[in-house]
Parts: sequence; C-alpha cells; structure tokens
Amino acid sequence: MEPHHIREIVFTDEQIRTRVDQLVHEMADDCRSENMVMIGILRGSFMFLADLVRDFYDHDYHPRIDFITLESYGGGTESSGTVRITKDFSVDVHDADVLLIDDILDTGRTLTYAKNHAKARGARSIKTCTLLDKPSRRIVPIEADYVGFTIDDFFVVGYGLDYDSYYRELPYLAKVTFEE
Ligand code: IMP
Ligand code: MG
Repeated sequence: MEPHHIREIVFTDEQIRTRVDQLVHEMADDCRSENMVMIGILRGSFMFLADLVRDFYDHDYHPRIDFITLESYGGGTESSGTVRITKDFSVDVHDADVLLIDDILDTGRTLTYAKNHAKARGARSIKTCTLLDKPSRRIVPIEADYVGFTIDDFFVVGYGLDYDSYYRELPYLAKVTFEE
C-alpha cells in the first residue's frame, strides 16, 4: 500500500533519534541492573526497541532482550477491549528487573496486561517505557515511567506503528486520516 493515507509528519526521524538519546540518558542510571530484561511488546515496539538497545550499548549497558506478542486490535483503529498473548516471554523473568517497551500507551489495556503478566511471573521490579502516550484515550489508569512524546487523540503510523500491518517501515511518525 502506498502511504496515501499519510496527512502530516508528526515527528521526523531526526526528532525521534534525539528523543531516544534523551530517554536512554534518563533510563541508563535508573535501570542499570545485572538482572535486567528488556521486553519489547510486539509488534509495534520493534523499531523503538532496536534503537534503544543500540543506544544502551553506547552506555556500556547490556540487558537481556526478549519479546512478548500481545493482541488487542482487530484490523482497524479501535481496540477490541481484550488483550491476549500470542507469544509469551522466552526468558524467565523470575527475580529479574523488567523494563517493558511499547510503541504507544492508548487505552492502557496492553501495558497493564503486560505489567500484570510480568508480576505474575515473579519479576522483582517492573518499569515501563513507551514511545508515545495519548493520555486523553486512557480507560485503565496507568502511566508509563518513561514517555517519548505525549500526543493528542489522533491515529499515528510509522516507526513500528501500523494501520492494518502497513506503514511500520516508515522512519518517521505520521498522522493518518481515512475519510477518502
Ligand atoms: P492500548 O492497549 O489501548 O493502550 O493500545 C496499545 C496498542 O494499540 C499499541 O501497542 C498499538 O499497537 C495500538 N495503537 C494505539 N494507538 C495507536 C495509533 O495511533 N497508531 C497505531 N497503533 C496504535
Ligand atoms: Mg498495533
């Protein structure tokens, strides 16, 4: 699909890179632990996580890395309201310091589910980081410990975020509208 739904670039790749550097500075001191596991929530976090860990490497910081796949959206732009696991942790997080990475905090259901799941698996501590936050959309009360950018209520794609599995490859974040 050509990116013909794209209306407006919200954050350029350069703006994202700058913010990722700042986030890693914020996190590097707090999150340094011998027993840290960084867990990306798939699929939206893949690009963000890849940039974060390469920055962590520059800080001589070498966490274990894992992924969980959680599904809540059907095809469109509205959440179905229920979250389910389609790929569980591969690393044993018992007694680990877990850092959960997601693309966007929207209703809060996905991150809440992931946090509860890590807790149920015996994580010693759990921190959360999302690239984007849409606080006006929250249904479940949750805040991330680290947020890249706070945005209003509009649908964004790119840098890992999709519309119907399209647009994840875009190196920037863009607003999409679907009125045509
Ligand atoms: P939540 O469970 O409602 O907080 O939704 C989190 C998930 O919904 C994210 O991990 C995204 O996959 C998806 N999502 C929410 N808002 C957007 C958006 O604006 N663009 C793309 N995906 C979104
Ligand atoms: Mg998604």
